[in-house]
Amino acid sequence: MAKKGRVFSGIRPTGRAHLGNYLGAIQNYVALQDEYECIYCIVDLHALTTVEDTINLRQNTYEMALDLLAAGIRPEETILFVQSHVPQVTELHTILSMVTPLGKLTDLPTFKEKVRQNPNNVNYGLVGYPVLMSADIALYKTDVVPVGIDQAPHLEFARETVRSFNYRYNTNVLKEAAMKTTEVPKVLGIDGKEKMSKSLDNHIEIAATPEETLQRVMMMVTDPQRIRRQDPGNPDVCNVFSLHKIFTPKEDVEMINVECRRAGIGCVDCKKRFAANLNKALEPFRTRRAELASQPDRVMAILEDGARRARAIAEETMKEVRAAVQLP
Ligand code: TYM
Repeated sequence: MAKKGRVFSGIRPTGRAHLGNYLGAIQNYVALQDEYECIYCIVDLHALTTVEDTINLRQNTYEMALDLLAAGIRPEETILFVQSHVPQVTELHTILSMVTPLGKLTDLPTFKEKVRQNPNNVNYGLVGYPVLMSADIALYKTDVVPVGIDQAPHLEFARETVRSFNYRYNTNVLKEAAMKTTEVPKVLGIDGKEKMSKSLDNHIEIAATPEETLQRVMMMVTDPQRIRRQDPGNPDVCNVFSLHKIFTPKEDVEMINVECRRAGIGCVDCKKRFAANLNKALEPFRTRRAELASQPDRVMAILEDGARRARAIAEETMKEVRAAVQLP
């Protein structure tokens, strides 16, 4: 079947994937394979912008490959590779940096947030993070980028960067990509307040054991107004309830909705049910992941093959880019 176009997305190997990555992005990575030619990249260079101690970088990159493959990435059709294995991206990053006003980078909300989180490590690479991301997307002449809503400013930035490049060099070799989100573009963390993220330690790893999952779920913050068991709760403001809607059978969701409001079910019971449903939903993924983990050579071969295929596309684009810029 003819494919509709090309999909590209990247994910940082800062640890194993969490429920936010899964519901916000990975589910779309998998679904889009049916209709698009897909390229997925484990962005180790992006991880370097915030990770100073790289002792776990290789292991985390491998773990992320396991997560993606077990989630349903099909390496026979889809290209799965590690960013630093395709050095053309750093060349395009340098070229794109020349059409990028510095003020635009420092004004980005994503940059300001990173500075707030880690004021002692505001490095040049961190400022240029969105330029490297633009290079990722442009290098593969991407049509669609599946991401969570937190990446919206970066996606808009990438489109503008492509426009600036094409305008400056009077060309149309680079393409503007569209963003695609899932039905849950922003998953909250177990604190029930902030976006789920590893750096805030409010995450639930999808590859966790059932026991670890239960433990994390029991830490989840529910309706803050519901203090005692006998207080009626409001599911509309409860993150556990929003996740029930995804993982729990419909009749049970309705029952919880009614019973929570009249204090018929307590938060402890509600969370235990959620953990059980989440564990059940993730069981096939965890089984596949364990199988893959027993074949590390196969996983490494998939990444090597992905890099080889990605390099071929990247080099084609770079030939056109160098010609447009008139690099001698
Ligand atoms: P990263 O590694 O932070 O996250 C990977 C993907 O997961 C999504 N995501 C979420 N979605 C919903 N709720 C959440 N709590 C949540 N947390 C994470 C992210 O939106 C993302 O889609 N800059 C990117 C990596 C990147 C990239 C690219 C993405 C590098 N180059 C090119 C797309 C295209 C990032 O840090 O994602």
